[in-house]
Amino acid sequence: MRVLVSGGAGYIGSHTVLALVAAGHDVVVVDDFSNAKPTVVGRLEALTGRHIPVHAFDLTDIDKTEHLFATDTIDAVIHFAGYKAVGESVQKPLDYYQNNLGSTFSLVRAMQRHDVDKLVFSSSATVYGTDQAGATEDRPTFATNPYGWTKVMQEQILRDIAVADPDMRIALLRYFNPVGAHPSGTIGEDPSDVPNNLMPYIAQVAVGRREKLQVFGDDYDTPDGTGVRDYIHVEDLAAGHVAALEKLAVTDEPISTWNLGSGRGTSVLELLRAFEKAVGRELPYEVVGRRAGDVATSYADPSKANAELGWSTQKTVEEMCADTWRWQSQNPDGYPD
Ligand code: UD1
Repeated sequence: MRVLVSGGAGYIGSHTVLALVAAGHDVVVVDDFSNAKPTVVGRLEALTGRHIPVHAFDLTDIDKTEHLFATDTIDAVIHFAGYKAVGESVQKPLDYYQNNLGSTFSLVRAMQRHDVDKLVFSSSATVYGTDQAGATEDRPTFATNPYGWTKVMQEQILRDIAVADPDMRIALLRYFNPVGAHPSGTIGEDPSDVPNNLMPYIAQVAVGRREKLQVFGDDYDTPDGTGVRDYIHVEDLAAGHVAALEKLAVTDEPISTWNLGSGRGTSVLELLRAFEKAVGRELPYEVVGRRAGDVATSYADPSKANAELGWSTQKTVEEMCADTWRWQSQNPDGYPD
């Protein structure tokens, strides 16, 4: 298939580009580079030995999106592009609703005009709201912040579209906590600001860009009191997208929802210890108060994806830490400008 990857220069998008090419698909990237560096593209080309066509524009631009579909032949879309910072979404809700919903509107409009029927959508465990432990796909969805609501709303919009147009084949993929990097150490997560998420923060402490990790609370009802999450290696996550895309080519279901996670929980302190092992030294941390809006425990029930996609996570927490450390130590300041 020739696959349009929106947000293909971003963290999960770039790893999925590699997985698609490895699986024999053609890739076209659209990215506005609002949260990605253009230098990632050269690295993707070096790893794949292929030219990766890239269109640099904002998908909320209906005319540019339409022009892309009118001038290229696209079989399927994987839609990663979107804003994703929880705290920022509370400060700038309108930006989040306008960007995240608007890009989906113009993409799906263009898909319908040009008879593109396969769409894989980046959703999140955030749609389980405060009920994220052992989550199965049939749980009711809700959110606790505007970012989360954009995911809940986009899922609902796509479900309504699938009812109206039963020829569509849509996958809603609910990611748990993506971490890790390509084993080459040349592609990885490159937050543009202070990292919000745990793994990139630990990696920046290890490389000396941050003084110490702040552990947000050690009084949760978990084995060591710190928050428990289902970390998934970004290469396993990318493989889940390829599996979902290939399933859409054969299924009769207009829309399907799959959790992408390991089913195993790891605490903040366990992840820190695993990272210390990868680095070979202890890392400084302090326990501070809880972060507003955090849940104690989040992990997937991935059995639906395991059974229906023939997919499961392969990589251990140790590999996630080793690969993140290789990326961070080889690129202490992230991608060059
Ligand atoms: C967060 C978002 C989630 C979003 C995901 C991807 C919240 C409440 N949830 O997930 O909606 O889909 O990011 O962007 O923001 N921690 C620390 N110190 C840190 C950072 C994190 O102790 O500096 C802890 C957190 O309290 C949590 C765990 O590490 O227990 C994981 O946090 P994080 O990586 O931010 O992921 P989520 O909160 O699961």
